[in-house]
Amino acid sequence: MKILRYLFRSLRTRIFLAIFITGILSSVIILYATLTNYEERAVNVNTLEAKTQMRILANHLITNNYLQDPNSGTISGELDMLSSLYDGRVLIIDDSLRIVRDTYGIAEGKTIISREVIQCLKKGDAGATSRYDRQNGYIEMTTPIMETKSLEGGDVTRAVSQDQVVRGVMLISISTEPITNTLRILQRKAMIIEIIILAVLFGLSVLIADLVTRPFNRITRAINDVKAGYTNQPIRENAYMETEHISNAFNQLLLREKALDDSRQAFVANVSHELKTPMTSIKVLADSLTAQGDVPVELYRDFMTDITKEIDRENQIINDLLELVKMDKQVSALGISQVDVNLLTENVMKRLRPLARRMDVELTFESARQVTAEIDEIKMSMVITNLVENAIKYNKEHGWVHVTLDADHQYFTLEVSDSGVGIPEDSMEHIYERFYRVDKSRSREIGGTGLGLAITRTAVLMHRGSIDVRSREEEGTVFTVRIPLIHLAGKEDKT
Ligand SMILES: Nc1ncnc2c1ncn2[C@@H]1O[C@H](COP(=O)(O)OP(=O)(O)O)[C@@H](O)[C@H]1O
Ligand SMILES: [Mg+2]
Repeated sequence: MKILRYLFRSLRTRIFLAIFITGILSSVIILYATLTNYEERAVNVNTLEAKTQMRILANHLITNNYLQDPNSGTISGELDMLSSLYDGRVLIIDDSLRIVRDTYGIAEGKTIISREVIQCLKKGDAGATSRYDRQNGYIEMTTPIMETKSLEGGDVTRAVSQDQVVRGVMLISISTEPITNTLRILQRKAMIIEIIILAVLFGLSVLIADLVTRPFNRITRAINDVKAGYTNQPIRENAYMETEHISNAFNQLLLREKALDDSRQAFVANVSHELKTPMTSIKVLADSLTAQGDVPVELYRDFMTDITKEIDRENQIINDLLELVKMDKQVSALGISQVDVNLLTENVMKRLRPLARRMDVELTFESARQVTAEIDEIKMSMVITNLVENAIKYNKEHGWVHVTLDADHQYFTLEVSDSGVGIPEDSMEHIYERFYRVDKSRSREIGGTGLGLAITRTAVLMHRGSIDVRSREEEGTVFTVRIPLIHLAGKEDKT
């Protein structure tokens, strides 16, 4: 049972069955139809032929006045011939239903009551019948024996047309044994043909089913090769549109995997490089101290301060990395609560004011309305900190940074605009990448890791919000963040 179900689930079996069954059915139907047709035709031909003979004989009967005088030798001979020709029996019946002649010689003088005979007597030619009795293997036919009426007239009651009178009926049954025999032979031949067709069809179906499913097997093998790691070449199977679709889909998957792999590798390379840079500086500083024999305390202090700076930087990178990795996990990691966004922004800016003062940048905040939203307070404060910090750091002397907050019924919008150095056109698409900095040395000088915007963007996306940037080199930059006021995914952990 299980193996049957297994077999039937195979495309090959199904194609095989479809071809095989269709072929068998149609060949059986054709053969059956041909045989039936042959039988019908043979019976028709026989009937027609016998009818003609009967008609001729009927005329002879009339001209020889056989009905009145059934001892005519020639007519009797003709009747006997007819009956032996068709291996049948001929009855001549007169208009009082009396059997005048029976070629079997057993019913002469008796009266026959038969619907066909009476009908034929009444209606003449229109009443002639023929009936094929398949079961018993004979055809029974009636033909009227008609006399063309003489001018003096006579029996008017039996007149069918104006001048024809039915004088009697000829009833003949002919054996259909020859037809049945031929049919039997044909059937035997058909059986043999059927068996040959069956064998050929079987082989053909197996072959076609195999051919049709071959591309699919090839594709499975190709995919398995990739899975096993023998190759990572794209696969190609264009035999059918379907297999081409599968190939294309698989290749796209392969490409995505490759891209993911590449970016992971690039990330690891970047991380290593970024972590190594402060290390190298520390080593150079320490080496130069140990290389000199007599180092003044002042120099020691100087170098140590530098070393501490490098260690702080290393720390900063590691912290940012951890932050990023932590956020890469899940949206459910959000700690959603009702947060006063105005207050949050003001607090962040208060913390950044010393930095702004140091960089000689004017920092202002403007809010169109009071905004509360369902957000993760810590992550959102990180977003605002990063944006405002960047705006301050990548600014000019006597520059300014404007922060505005607004909201509609669905989103709140935070805009951070500055009068800074701007972002070059070709860097725009990279600024959210990890470790990307437009000006590496400047960012390093200011203490950036290149991770700030990557973290910011991830945090915004976790809130199902959006972040946009417009910038003009040497003029300034505007970052716009839009966050939904109601956090849909976090509904369940609301109290
Ligand atoms: N407001 C801005 N004005 C000019 N450039 C900016 C601004 N914000 C970000 N950038 C550019 O995008 C880069 C990436 O920013 P970020 O990811 O925060 O890294 P970091 O600040 O650590 O350098 C920065 O190095 C800087 O070149
Ligand atoms: Mg930054």
